[in-house]
Amino acid sequence: MGYIEKTVAALKKSKYAIAFTGAGISAESGISPFRGENGIWNKYKEQLFEINYFTEHTQDSWSMLCDGFYEAMFKAKPNEAHTALASFEKEGLIKAIITQNIDDLHEKAGSKIIYSLHGNASKLRCIKDGSNYYVKFFDLKTAPRCKICNSMLKPDFVFFGEMLPEYDMHMSLKVSLKCDVMIVIGSTGTVYPAASIPYYAKRNNATIIEVNPTPSAFTNEITDIFIPMKAVEAMQNIRTLFYQQR
Ligand code: APR
Repeated sequence: MGYIEKTVAALKKSKYAIAFTGAGISAESGISPFRGENGIWNKYKEQLFEINYFTEHTQDSWSMLCDGFYEAMFKAKPNEAHTALASFEKEGLIKAIITQNIDDLHEKAGSKIIYSLHGNASKLRCIKDGSNYYVKFFDLKTAPRCKICNSMLKPDFVFFGEMLPEYDMHMSLKVSLKCDVMIVIGSTGTVYPAASIPYYAKRNNATIIEVNPTPSAFTNEITDIFIPMKAVEAMQNIRTLFYQQR
């Protein structure tokens, strides 16, 4: 039985399947991953996403963020891997998505239960009073400021040096310790604490299915079914076979 057949069999047998996604699921939507060929870190230093650099070099940081990330994000549309997960959620097959991504593409694809470990770049947050705004209402050529207290607004994603959102981390742990199948799509599995989540699923004896054209840090450690494909092709194949066998 091939890896797609094994994956569909595991999903059909599952009582509580969840997904864990990384930047690779959005690569085919035109958003560069962080590592690997044309990765963001090949072009920009990680300081681009460092909170101290942002607060000390705000204007410079905003222009790099626009160039390196926001431009692609505003153009990006969910791809068939995002929409496959959303339709599996509608079927009651996928109970939740845990994502490291900040590109809002799972939301745009229609998924509802999403735990965003690294926040979401479609929003801005006031560093003083915490008020939240949608980034699309701002012209990012000048550093955006809070409409209430005029303090600096930051992208509502987790910069290096910031804590991960407590609720999303708590819920990610909770569903990972409950799931019997976790499908891991497009992550190097190298950035903690997010990368620890699939290990919790494994500890709960979940079947770990991994979709990635190249092996990751998870592959030889916890992966039970490795699908050496890009996200769109893999999810198209899984979705087609799943519905054929209905
Ligand atoms: N389909 C599936 N996987 C892909 C595809 C694709 N089309 N293209 C690339 N990949 C895989 C790569 O092989 C790699 O394993 O996606 C992964 C991308 O790796 P990273 O960019 O490191 O993504 P991720 O693991 O999500 O990074 C984690 O690092 O910089 C931080 O906060 C940032 O959330 C990010 C975190």
